[in-house]
Amino acid sequence: MNAHLDSLLAQTDRAMGAVFNSHYRGEVHVGVDLGTAYTVLIVLDADYRPLAGTYRFANVVRDGLVVDFIGAIDLLRELKRNVESRLGFELTHAATGYPPGVPLAEVRATANVVRAAGLDCRAEVDEPTAANAVLQIRDGAVVDVGGGTTGIAVFRDGHVVYSGDEATGGTHFSLVIAGALNIPFEDAENLKVDARQQDRLYPIVRPVMEKVATIVARHIRPFDVETICMVGGTSNFKGIAPVVEEVTGVKTLIPVQPMFVTPLGIAMQDRSEQ
Ligand SMILES: Nc1ncnc2c1ncn2[C@@H]1O[C@H](COP(=O)(O)OP(=O)(O)OP(=O)(O)O)[C@@H](O)[C@H]1O
Ligand SMILES: [Mg+2]
Repeated sequence: MNAHLDSLLAQTDRAMGAVFNSHYRGEVHVGVDLGTAYTVLIVLDADYRPLAGTYRFANVVRDGLVVDFIGAIDLLRELKRNVESRLGFELTHAATGYPPGVPLAEVRATANVVRAAGLDCRAEVDEPTAANAVLQIRDGAVVDVGGGTTGIAVFRDGHVVYSGDEATGGTHFSLVIAGALNIPFEDAENLKVDARQQDRLYPIVRPVMEKVATIVARHIRPFDVETICMVGGTSNFKGIAPVVEEVTGVKTLIPVQPMFVTPLGIAMQDRSEQ
């Protein structure tokens, strides 16, 4: 496990909406993560330290597939402009990610969004490999609970030996909350991400957490997994780790800011010189 993980993620969180060094003019590494719920853009400096970033909720991708091509391009252009105005220079290239198991044509579609937004797409990385560039797990499982899906990847000697992805993610949490409280989805979404509300929402979403945990348990069963590391925005929901630990019987950890692990890892793969 990466010894500097928490400080790296805390720095990434601070870089969202801010710039540490607005005079920076060196090489940059850029990552674009087009997600079901959030699209994230992260810029790192030459030493792979977070410089600036931004993210936006949008329904342009579903389970790794671009469903709104024009919307995705417009969104990414907007995120790019936003970060460029803070940095004071133009971004010209980026790496992007894709969930394991999506067809090659879909990976190309994602890369085409990046290109159409004015960025030379230098690398396309599968999300668990990107996440593990940050986590640096040798043996164990990485579970990515995003908006639409839960992704599971098992690592041996630092390499992915198995990966799977199943529907059930943060969107389902919000749907269950909307149903239980009889409020619109958007209101449920806003309520859910407010940490102060999560204690009272816990009984409502607990069955969805158990569903996520059951999915994880089924996927890791054939492997001798000793530790699970949870990433993705939904891993922010208070109390999810103990549920996964209880159902799987495997020690479960969540780094601070789990939502930025994969986008950060994608940015790290944008390697060549500018
Ligand atoms: N603090 C929070 N507490 C609970 N849920 C959160 C929090 N922050 C974000 N989320 C949820 O995390 C999800 C987004 O996470 P993430 O950005 O990892 O997903 P994604 O990559 O867009 O989706 P997918 O990986 O399924 O394509 C959303 O459902 C959002 O509501
Ligand atoms: Mg994701």
